[in-house]
Amino acid sequence: MTLLALAVAGQGLVDPNEPAVHADDEAVIRGRAAFETLRVYGGVPFRLESHLVRLASSCERIGVEPPDADEARALASLALERAGEPNAVLRFYRTSGREQSDSPRLLVLVSSLPDHLEELRARGIRLVSLLGVRAEVPWLLGGVKSTSYAVNMAAEAEARARGADDAVFVSTDELVLEGPVTNVWWRRGSELFTPSLDLGVLAGVTRDTLLELAPALGYAVREGRFPLAELQGAEEAFTSSSVRELMPAVELDGRPIARGPAADALQAALRNAALG
Ligand SMILES: Cc1ncc(COP(=O)(O)O)c(C=O)c1O
Repeated sequence: MTLLALAVAGQGLVDPNEPAVHADDEAVIRGRAAFETLRVYGGVPFRLESHLVRLASSCERIGVEPPDADEARALASLALERAGEPNAVLRFYRTSGREQSDSPRLLVLVSSLPDHLEELRARGIRLVSLLGVRAEVPWLLGGVKSTSYAVNMAAEAEARARGADDAVFVSTDELVLEGPVTNVWWRRGSELFTPSLDLGVLAGVTRDTLLELAPALGYAVREGRFPLAELQGAEEAFTSSSVRELMPAVELDGRPIARGPAADALQAALRNAALG
């Protein structure tokens, strides 16, 4: 992704190639910041309000004052206009501010979409299951989008090192959780399955959208605590996220997974919803 435009609270548009965060911002030194990533379709950020609500709740969980939503919206408009790219990635970062001050910052970034998403969707992704944390206690920050994502990035790297495209976290007792930056889904018959939020997985905005779209396509959704064996025995499986949308899986831990109709139907419905 290439950074196209940057807007900062209290400053407005700034040069995206100049530093915008202090060296002693707790975001830098401790990873204490909250963020949101969403996709912009035809100049319109999809489900912006849901992302701003989640940003505020992540901020509360890490003890950072949530940003003013009107200011966040205004900065997003400025940055999108400056970027001049109707199909893009919009990100909000709320940092806790400098160590000895109480001065949280809000940065709004517009970047180009990552390359190769459509090729990957057409080919299907290979998944590997990796040990993750069932983050059910508040201090493990389950369901919080904080910038402490080094573990998630390391899991993606491990998946790639094992010849796969992405990881699926499973708990020590082999319950399916989520991917490093995705929610996980699978299908048996006309039922879709996805891990429930009480496991500490992120309440994905795309996950929420799919929960709304699935019934009209003839799919009932079951949220719950499912062992990895259920995913292994699925008739099809896919991941969901704002930027990657739906990614059908073709392999799990080296064993093939069939392609099926649900991922394609939901991907089409998601695009339809996004393009209004
Ligand atoms: C850990 C994790 N789970 C799930 C998701 C998917 O969330 P959304 O659909 O809101 O992008 C993300 C998104 O970045 C994530 O980081």
